[in-house]
Amino acid sequence: MKMSRPIAQLVMQRCDALGRISDEPRRLTRTFASPGMRQANKLVGAWMREAGLQVREDVALNLLGRWNSGKAGAKTLLLGSHLDTVRDAGKFDGTLGVLVAIAAVQLLRRRKVQLPFNLEIAGFSDEEGVRYQTACLGSRALAGTLTSADLARIREKHIVKARRPRGEFLGYAEVHIEQGPVLEEKDLPVGVVVAIAGQSRLRVEFEGRAGHAGTVPMNLRQDALAGAAEFILNVESCAGKKSSLVATVGQIEAAPGASNVIPGCAVLSLDVRDQMDSRRLAAVHALRTKARAIARPRGLKLNWLPVQQTPAVQCDKYLTRIFSRCIARRGLEALKLPSGAGHDAAAISAICPVAMLFVRCKGGISHHPAESVKPGDVAIAIDVLVDFIQSLEGRFDSQATR
Ligand code: GLV
Ligand code: MN
Ligand code: MN
Repeated sequence: MKMSRPIAQLVMQRCDALGRISDEPRRLTRTFASPGMRQANKLVGAWMREAGLQVREDVALNLLGRWNSGKAGAKTLLLGSHLDTVRDAGKFDGTLGVLVAIAAVQLLRRRKVQLPFNLEIAGFSDEEGVRYQTACLGSRALAGTLTSADLARIREKHIVKARRPRGEFLGYAEVHIEQGPVLEEKDLPVGVVVAIAGQSRLRVEFEGRAGHAGTVPMNLRQDALAGAAEFILNVESCAGKKSSLVATVGQIEAAPGASNVIPGCAVLSLDVRDQMDSRRLAAVHALRTKARAIARPRGLKLNWLPVQQTPAVQCDKYLTRIFSRCIARRGLEALKLPSGAGHDAAAISAICPVAMLFVRCKGGISHHPAESVKPGDVAIAIDVLVDFIQSLEGRFDSQATR
């Protein structure tokens, strides 16, 4: 553990440096293919090179650093997370996982470890989906799972060429801040993820009729925003207090958008998540029925437009067990927990087994500039990841993981 303390400080400094690379003044926002992202890739690419990795950017702008084992026919262990952010982000979501992976390689190189497999670190170009509302463009391009609907939406068709051959990767491991309060509550620095919640992302449009706010009587209005407001309260109450179902309207736009004009159109984002796919799909169905029931008596037209559906993903049992053992070897409880947040790991699970290590974050706060992690916890995460990589040695000459 001693070895990784200074390198954990370096990771913290690097998180600070990346936290200053933004598309916007005074707040951290780095979206897919933006100038900020290109600058971040340049800086992280330099750190990867310094760690001895061969660096390239693929056509989906994923930053890739590779360590070839030199062994003929060797498969590749993929590590990483994302380098894009939400709007007004914290500096650890995604970034920490990429930098911890680079730190792990630095330590392995310093210890002159020879790996029997290739190792590659990915800084994925889009996990948050801020620019196009479809998440994980970078990791899904690499996994080869972008749909024609995605491509129509993003108009960057060439990114399908980032696809990597199935069978190339023996596994994927991602370190990420927990983004929730459980580890802090249990006083644990790290935990192991067992499953990642499924997501439905939709665009919901209420169309009414714009009109004069002073002259149209209340009973003759088709106020799209009032209908949307009623719907939003239903979204809030559809999520059960006990189940893992969560539902959010995070964006709203009203047009034409003037204080003296009745809103003729309201466009909402809808994000529904659950560990159980059937419960998530049932909730989306029930919300659609509710939206129709709200729209009809108000004389509104409803457009219900699915944007993205991601099923829940189970982390690989074998890789998860290795993470648990590496945590236990440090005298810590290896707490297993689900992830409500989406992750590149869910996208990469389409092509290889995946595992995730969560790092405690202050107050469970995330998607907010107040995101905070302790250097001591980062040091433990680096140690666990190094141990994880070395524990796979020899067991992964070529074959599957289960
Ligand atoms: C990404 O952080 C997501 O879960 O939306
Ligand atoms: Mn993230
Ligand atoms: Mn995020």
